[in-house]
Amino acid sequence: MWFKKKTVEINKDYFTESWINEWKESINSSDSYHRDGSEWNAPLILKIDPIPKILDVQNAIGFYLNLQYGKCMELRYAKSADVDRSDLVLSADEQTWIRMIEEKKDPTMMIMKGKLKLEKGSLVTLSTHRKAAKSLLNTAPVYSDSPSVERIKANLKEPPSVRKEHTGFVTTKKGLDFDSFPMQLFQKAKKFGIWNPSDINFSVDREQWKSLNKEERTILIHLSSLFMAGEEAVTLDLLPLIQTISKEGRIEEEIFLTSFLWEEAKHTEFFSRFVAEVMIERPDFESFHGVFYKKLFYQKLPFYLNALFTDTSPLAQLKASGTYNMIVEGTLAETGYEAYHTMLRENDLLPGLQKGITLLKQDESRHIAYGLFLINRLLADNPELKNPFEDHLEELLNDATNIIHEIFEPYDVVPFGLEKEWFLDYAIRQFQLRMNKLGV
Ligand SMILES: [Fe+2]
Ligand SMILES: [Fe+2]
Repeated sequence: MWFKKKTVEINKDYFTESWINEWKESINSSDSYHRDGSEWNAPLILKIDPIPKILDVQNAIGFYLNLQYGKCMELRYAKSADVDRSDLVLSADEQTWIRMIEEKKDPTMMIMKGKLKLEKGSLVTLSTHRKAAKSLLNTAPVYSDSPSVERIKANLKEPPSVRKEHTGFVTTKKGLDFDSFPMQLFQKAKKFGIWNPSDINFSVDREQWKSLNKEERTILIHLSSLFMAGEEAVTLDLLPLIQTISKEGRIEEEIFLTSFLWEEAKHTEFFSRFVAEVMIERPDFESFHGVFYKKLFYQKLPFYLNALFTDTSPLAQLKASGTYNMIVEGTLAETGYEAYHTMLRENDLLPGLQKGITLLKQDESRHIAYGLFLINRLLADNPELKNPFEDHLEELLNDATNIIHEIFEPYDVVPFGLEKEWFLDYAIRQFQLRMNKLGV
């Protein structure tokens, strides 16, 4: 048959009536789905497009699942008319669905990677039920006796040996590669990254601060507390990566990285200046650091970066850069700038802070570009690391979305009209944008 694999047992095919019944039973007897799906109450359709023969015979477009708080009340072939009464419609071709089932993929991640289409419903809602969606798919019966792609174990390569002496120099042997991407970034850094935080005039900001109401000040203090610690963390934690690149003798990359660290140091200075010169009060900034924020910035970021002191394998480098460049810079910081932008520019407020953020954002775009370059270089040389790298990103993206939920939690009405859903969606789109530039 069209989808049958050599390893599939006779009379046991995907998407048959008996497969559907088996799946329903499996959902209802799964402890993990019962737990992960306990807050998910959604009729949904998993659509197969183009429609394969087995569904065509049934006049069906996919499967209709009526999920109620950790149980499946109904699972059957879906008809076109079911679309109206479903909150979510996810669509992919049959091979993608089989792959997702066999490899136990995360549906939210598959959407971000453009492999699965969200035809109806919101990505934000799905991402809040992300664990449930993954758990649900995990319960689907797998018929292949040897799954097509069993997770390839991360084949860690020996780290390059530590250099004890120089045997020659790039500059004197073949010359610097001025056309290389890191050198191009370095040219940009020397042009656009030379702004001075001490030159920024905060006098208007200081006056305007006095006229803000308590709620407006609170949200600005809140966001600034996340950026103050965030910039300090990325300044403190970058060094092991620079050291790793240096040990590998990648001089062009190291040249760029000198500007990277310098810029992070200036960002740390910038936020501290803003706070010292503009805010009348010196609030308890750390009281705004929630559980999920601390998990990422106090623990995971230093953990994955400092791991490079003892393990410089490609996977360790991927995990470090994925955490630093993809999640902290590429997803969270970008979303944070957008929050400032929404509050300040649209209300014509705090011009000094606005100016600094515009300059800082330019620096960050180079940092993220370098991170994507590094990740692509590592994956091109070690394609077997794609899966473990994706798993790592999945876990961290979850942390990132939890941080956004956590930020909005204390506010019944968020000042300046900020909306949680909009920012969650923005963060996911930022992540998606970076993913599209990776060879994964
Ligand atoms: Fe920064
Ligand atoms: Fe940065």
